[in-house]
Amino acid sequence: MLVVIKKDYEEVSSEAARIIAGAVRSNPTIVLGLATGSTPLGLYKELIALHRAGDLDFSQATSFNLDEYLGLPASHPQSFHFFMKQNFFSHVNLSSANVHIPDGTISGDYDAYCAQYEQCIKAAGGIDLQILGIGRNGHVGFNEPTSSLASRTRLKALSRETVDDNRHFFANESEMPKCAITMGIGTILDSRRVLLLASGRSKAAAVAKAIEGPITSSVSASALQMHADVTFMKRSVTNANRWRHRRHKISPRRLQR
Ligand code: PGA
Repeated sequence: MLVVIKKDYEEVSSEAARIIAGAVRSNPTIVLGLATGSTPLGLYKELIALHRAGDLDFSQATSFNLDEYLGLPASHPQSFHFFMKQNFFSHVNLSSANVHIPDGTISGDYDAYCAQYEQCIKAAGGIDLQILGIGRNGHVGFNEPTSSLASRTRLKALSRETVDDNRHFFANESEMPKCAITMGIGTILDSRRVLLLASGRSKAAAVAKAIEGPITSSVSASALQMHADVTFMKRSVTNANRWRHRRHKISPRRLQR
């Protein structure tokens, strides 16, 4: 496990983009596992900039997103389909035929749909590089605490913490879906390489547990300790503290200079 600590969010984003761009250049037919959330936004911006500069070609790449809210159509502004389109796909040349995101509008045989998603990943040759964020409760994708470490793509009920963290995106809590379709921890562990990004003090405890704690289904990200090629890239909380501390120590007179 590689733990890379960067000064700030911008550095986390640009270093992650550098790694992904390098992987795409060395393997143009790469299969990427993509994540949504506020954490990878900076990374997507960097990748878009590289693409616009003519430095990065996604035309032969394939992508699989980790998850989608159950019940939200692709046109819903809070759906992960919408997020990906707005923040990445509409700005780069990834072919829509090669883009895969679980369909939040399916009903009926969820197990069959999820098995098909797994099959599709397999048929594409497996995920070469999986990007992950991490939840305050240590979830990756929507693998909430107590998810089986061997789980595959499936329907999953969202935890209270996840609902609390995301309900402000919806007009009222009742509109927020209570379930999602998510790749499983087993699906994620099958990726050849994993890059987890974390930024923000609220994530520090989850990151520490994932890296240093016991491997436990209470912290889904701790399963990554079993992966042979995983990088945790995080912003330095210590550094942020030091700057905050310094700021408090600076007298108003010095600030005026
Ligand atoms: P965030 O979410 O990037 O919006 O903090 C990450 C996650 O919950 O996996």
